[in-house]
Amino acid sequence: MSAMKRYTETLTEDINVLKERLNFNSGKHARNRFLKAAMTEKMGTYVPKNPEKHGLPNQKMLNLYDKWGNGNFGVILTGNVMVDPTHLESAENVVIFKEGDSPERRFLFGEWAKNSKQDGALAIIQLSHGGRQTPIAVNPKPFAPSKVQLVVDPNFTAFGEPIELTIEQIKTEVINRFVYAAKFAYETGFDGVELHAAHGYLLSQFTSPTTNKRTDKYGGSLENRLRIILEIYDAIRQQVPKEFIVGIKTNSVEFQSEGTTVEDAKEMCKLYEKKGVDFIELSGGTYEKFGFEHVRESTRKREAFYLETAEKIRPVFKNTVVYLTGGFRTVHAMIQAVESGATHGIGLGRPTTAEPDLPKKILEGKVSSALANTIDGNNFYYTSLASGVQMEQMGRTSLEEANNNIMTSISDFSNPETTNRFLEVLKDYVELTKTEKMKGNPVIKTLIFD
Ligand SMILES: Cc1cc2nc3c(=O)[nH]c(=O)nc-3n(C[C@H](O)[C@H](O)[C@H](O)COP(=O)(O)O)c2cc1C
Repeated sequence: MSAMKRYTETLTEDINVLKERLNFNSGKHARNRFLKAAMTEKMGTYVPKNPEKHGLPNQKMLNLYDKWGNGNFGVILTGNVMVDPTHLESAENVVIFKEGDSPERRFLFGEWAKNSKQDGALAIIQLSHGGRQTPIAVNPKPFAPSKVQLVVDPNFTAFGEPIELTIEQIKTEVINRFVYAAKFAYETGFDGVELHAAHGYLLSQFTSPTTNKRTDKYGGSLENRLRIILEIYDAIRQQVPKEFIVGIKTNSVEFQSEGTTVEDAKEMCKLYEKKGVDFIELSGGTYEKFGFEHVRESTRKREAFYLETAEKIRPVFKNTVVYLTGGFRTVHAMIQAVESGATHGIGLGRPTTAEPDLPKKILEGKVSSALANTIDGNNFYYTSLASGVQMEQMGRTSLEEANNNIMTSISDFSNPETTNRFLEVLKDYVELTKTEKMKGNPVIKTLIFD
């Protein structure tokens, strides 16, 4: 086996700044600056006709977090957990919903929380609702703020024409469901929730003028577009103890003509700070255009995709902790982003599927960067599929079953030979996915590699 390659091999900086703890308004703290970002695992059961059994985390999920739970993260976020079984991001999402409450669901969530928290990380569930980004095969008539259909490459995926939520449904179908799920997260042992209000899912459909054309109190001005999120926040706060963490993932920018601008994002963040939200995770983009790529040389050098927007927004925060996610690969760039004041915390996605204990290795001074990914880094689709493959591989065994070797079974995409083999397998898989989606099949076979 060839040696694993990193982006940089020598560590010259003092990493102590990354060890610093982050204090949340609610009273808890993260023991260091690292956050494992949300990455949809698709490790839930899909049986919508039988609510008791639908959207339950499976054994692979528990094994996966057994690995991350030994990686020395400050915070571990789950992938998106949906609050409504008819509004998923993908079939096989894990779901929390009152119709599906059962001792089995509570037990599995409890195990999931325990595995994530084993070495001292805070475990936080990302709560989401697909809105108009719910695949047509899951729901041809999803709820959304307004009747603005999402149109993307029709060969690849399709979304139905949405139904505009009534004011009553905003309460019963959205706010109440988020609140129910947050309380469930608390009761099953999680330290907090993150409301997913980024990437074009329902809550960001409300905040974005591209998708929110309402003329009632949930549309129009920025305060109105943000109202649903603040109402969810306030309602959650009434249902859980003060120490329970509530954060929000928000878009710092979107790329459509009427999309959220950095100025809008800054105004929203002022209101979040005023509310006392525990943390804000800054990201950007929607299904129409993700921004998980470098378009400018200046940001390529500094790694984080949204660094420049974060720098503009960050001064509004005094007590709310800020995480910046997307693009970080070297210790040098992470330290610079913290020291320049762009962010308090460092969110890591794809590097942590290649190496579930990356923070541990960094904080022990053993490595100076993530493993170099030889799949085109600007191809978010391929690199996400690679991360999906690595999550499946991690899920095959618990840490103990892997004889405590945390890297067991994980493909090394720093090796070009492995990448070439993967890209071959991918060709067939991408075709299969297209055909399955065109047939209207909600469940697409998991890509298994090596
Ligand atoms: C496989 C995969 C699944 C993802 N799923 C989610 C998700 O469920 N929720 C979310 O907010 N972001 C999701 N993301 C985005 C990541 O949280 C992160 O913002 C993005 O990957 C950029 O960070 P990175 O460059 O460190 O990977 C996903 C990314 C990948 C690669």
